[in-house]
Amino acid sequence: MRKRLGIISLFVILFVGFITIWNYSYYEGQEEAYIPIENNRPVPLIPSETGVFQRSEFALDYAKMPVDENHQRTLYEYYKNRAYHGAPPIIPHPVADEKNMGGNSCLKCHQNGGFTEKYKAYAPVTPHPEMVNCKQCHVSQKTQSMFKGTNFRRIVVPKVGVNNALEGSPPIIPHQLQLRENCLACHAGPSAPKEIRVTHPERVNCRQCHVMNNKEIKDIGIFIRKPQANE
Ligand code: HEC
Ligand code: HEC
Ligand code: HEC
Ligand code: HEC
Repeated sequence: MRKRLGIISLFVILFVGFITIWNYSYYEGQEEAYIPIENNRPVPLIPSETGVFQRSEFALDYAKMPVDENHQRTLYEYYKNRAYHGAPPIIPHPVADEKNMGGNSCLKCHQNGGFTEKYKAYAPVTPHPEMVNCKQCHVSQKTQSMFKGTNFRRIVVPKVGVNNALEGSPPIIPHQLQLRENCLACHAGPSAPKEIRVTHPERVNCRQCHVMNNKEIKDIGIFIRKPQANE
């Protein structure tokens, strides 16, 4: 009888203890401020704007980093690997496994960049580490010559350094934002082309001051391949 009473009172004590602790943590939780998220807000969230903060944890490191003058990339080198403005650059170096789609083997160097002794250059940081099938879009260049001449014209590249309304005011963003949400990947760090390396990587909310260029893009016309002499 005593044993049974003992067990029952043990459970009663445990039960009361549970209720007390649960009650305490419930009210504790209510004290924290939180903002209820409503899905029917009038201004929709723009997902691409969050990309601006993707590499912001490195911003202070970039701000303090000394510039390695001997291994700076230039905009000329940046455009050289691209068929046209905004096209995925070719892979300018040998690739270890031809059949591999990329993924971690590429991210080893391209996730956070850094100096690569083998190529005597800083690996450019990829603005899109989440797209792991790299070779879906980036391929090695197999030939320097064209298979067949065409009248394909490159889109004119936006000029740099002339995008401010006034001297000292923040320049507009002269390029589109598709695949370019992650500003610090291209504009900061040792692999950033020197003409566009930002002097203020620590101001992480870039789009607070830099606005889009909303000018309409000029139509480049219908592409018609030039007939060749032997056709
Ligand atoms: C050992 C480190 C390393 C690995 C691994 C590596 N890369 Fe690179 N990559 C570099 C370096 C360094 C450069 C810059 C080369 C230069 O400027 O001459 C570069 C340049 C590039 C560029 C040109 C970027 C531009 O803006 O012109 C692309 C694209 C690229 N790599 C894609 C890849 C892909 C895809 C893979 C995986 C199949 C890969 N890389 C694996 C180090 C690496
Ligand atoms: C859906 C196609 C696509 C995939 C998949 C993709 N990229 Fe890209 N990548 C692009 C395009 C397009 C650009 C050029 C962006 C621009 O100039 O606006 C680019 C640019 C780059 C650059 C140049 C950045 C710079 O500062 O010069 C690097 C490096 C790069 N990609 C690496 C990678 C790696 C590594 C992977 C795999 C983890 C990958 N990409 C997957 C389309 C892709
Ligand atoms: C894929 C690399 C890449 C990304 C990501 C990128 N940019 Fe750029 N940015 C460039 C290049 C290259 C130029 C030079 C003009 C051109 O080719 O479009 C440039 C030019 C600029 C300029 C004009 C600079 C001047 O001196 O006139 C501003 C401002 C700018 N970018 C802001 C941004 C902001 C803000 C973001 C993020 C929302 C961003 N960029 C993301 C590559 C990039
Ligand atoms: C508080 C406002 C502000 C924020 C935030 C800001 N910028 Fe700027 N940015 C400016 C101003 C002002 C200039 C013009 C500086 C000058 O002419 O001396 C400028 C110039 C630039 C330039 C031209 C080159 C240079 O450094 O002078 C680039 C590229 C650029 N900003 C990119 C960025 C990027 C990328 C970010 C986010 C990491 C960013 N900015 C955040 C105000 C801002």
